Amino acid sequence: MGVRKIEHTFSEKKVSYYFDADFSYLEKIVSKEKTVLITDEIVFAAQQAKFEGWQTVVIKAGEQYKQQSTVDGIIQQLIEKEADRNTFIVGVGGGVVTDVTGYAASVYMRGLKFGFVPSTILAMVDASIGGKNGVDVGAYKNLVGLIKQPEFLLFDYSLLQTLPNAEWINGFAEIIKHACIKDADLFSLLEKNSIENFQSDAALLAVLIEKNVQIKTTVVVADEFEKGDRKLLNFGHTLGHAIENIYQLPHGHAVSVGMVAACTLSEKLNRFDPAAKERVKQLIEKYRLTSIISFDKESIWNTLKMDKKRVSNEMNFILLNKIGEAIIKPIPMQQLEELISQSL
Ligand SMILES: NC(=O)c1ccc[n+]([C@@H]2O[C@H](COP(=O)([O-])OP(=O)(O)OC[C@H]3O[C@@H](n4cnc5c(N)ncnc54)[C@H](O)[C@@H]3O)[C@@H](O)[C@H]2O)c1
Ligand SMILES: [Zn+2]
Repeated sequence: MGVRKIEHTFSEKKVSYYFDADFSYLEKIVSKEKTVLITDEIVFAAQQAKFEGWQTVVIKAGEQYKQQSTVDGIIQQLIEKEADRNTFIVGVGGGVVTDVTGYAASVYMRGLKFGFVPSTILAMVDASIGGKNGVDVGAYKNLVGLIKQPEFLLFDYSLLQTLPNAEWINGFAEIIKHACIKDADLFSLLEKNSIENFQSDAALLAVLIEKNVQIKTTVVVADEFEKGDRKLLNFGHTLGHAIENIYQLPHGHAVSVGMVAACTLSEKLNRFDPAAKERVKQLIEKYRLTSIISFDKESIWNTLKMDKKRVSNEMNFILLNKIGEAIIKPIPMQQLEELISQSL
C-alpha cells in the first residue's frame, strides 16, 4: 500500500498528514539541502541509517532537557548551519522533540516552516497533533510556548520497532483516554487486543494509530484554542498531573490513575455505570498501566488547589457519561475536597 496524504484544515493553515509513509518519503516533501532535522540522541542512535545525508541537530533526550537552554543550543546550531528563511525544520522524535522543534522553528528568524516525524506512540497520537509547542521552565511544565501548526506530519510506524516497551505502555494511556471520551468502538477494539497484538501486527497498529490521530485532530480542529471540547482531552489529567508531580510516576501511569479516579467521580456525580468503571479499570490493567495507588489525599488536594484549571471557586473536571462520551463538569472546590477525602 502506498502513502496516503490527507489534509486537515486548521484556522491558520492546512496540515498534510502522510500515513503509511516510509521515512525516506521525507525527501519528496522537503528539499534535503534546505532542511535541518532535529532529533534526540537516543532516536539518533536507534535510527542512525535514517539520518544519513541530512543536516541534523541532536539534542539530549528526556523531559529534563525540554528547557529554553536546549532551544538556545538549537538556535546556535541553526546559525552555524546558516539556516535562513527558506530552511525547513523537521522534528524527528517523541513529544519532547516535537514540542521543542515547533517552538524553536517558530521563533528562529520569527518563524521557519516546520514538520514532524513522530517516533513514539504518544507523539504519533497526541503530542505532534494540534500545534501546541514549547518548553518547561524549571519544574513548570509547558510554561512557555505558542500554538502554531506544522506544515506536515509523516507517520512511519516502523520507527516504533526500537521504542522501549515502557514507552509503548505510556502511549497507550492516551489511546485509552481517547476511547473513553470519544469512541466506544475503539474501547472494544482495545479490549479485544493487547499491546503484543499491536506490536506484532503492522496493519492493526496502522488502524489503531490512524483512528487515534483522527480523534485528536477532530477535537482540535473543532476547538483549536481550547474554549470547549478540546478540554475533554484533559480526561484523567487533572488528578494525573498532581499524582505525577508528587509521586514521580511516568505520565501514562499517572494519567491512568487519574482516569480511574475520574470514573469514580463520574459515578458519584454523573451516574456513570459502576460496571463501565470496572471495564475502564480492567482495560488500564490489561495494558500494564497503573489503575490505583494509595496516595496522600492532603498533598494531592494541596497540589490540585493550585491547578491552573481552577476557576475561582470551581474546578473543571472531565467526567464520563458512558464509555465513549465525556462532559466538562465544574465541581465546587469544597465538594471536590470532600469527594477526594471520602471517595478516592
Ligand atoms: N504538544 C502537545 O499537544 C503535547 C501533548 C502531549 C504531550 N506532549 C509532550 O510530549 C512529551 C512526552 O512525549 P514522549 O512520551 O514521546 O516522550 P519523549 O520525547 O521523552 O520520548 C520518550 C523516550 O523515548 C525515546 N524514543 C523516542 N522515539 C524512539 C524510538 N523510535 N526508538 C527508541 N527510543 C525512542 C526518547 O529518546 C525518550 O527517551 C512531554 O514533554 C509532553 O509535555 C505535548
Ligand atoms: Zn497525557
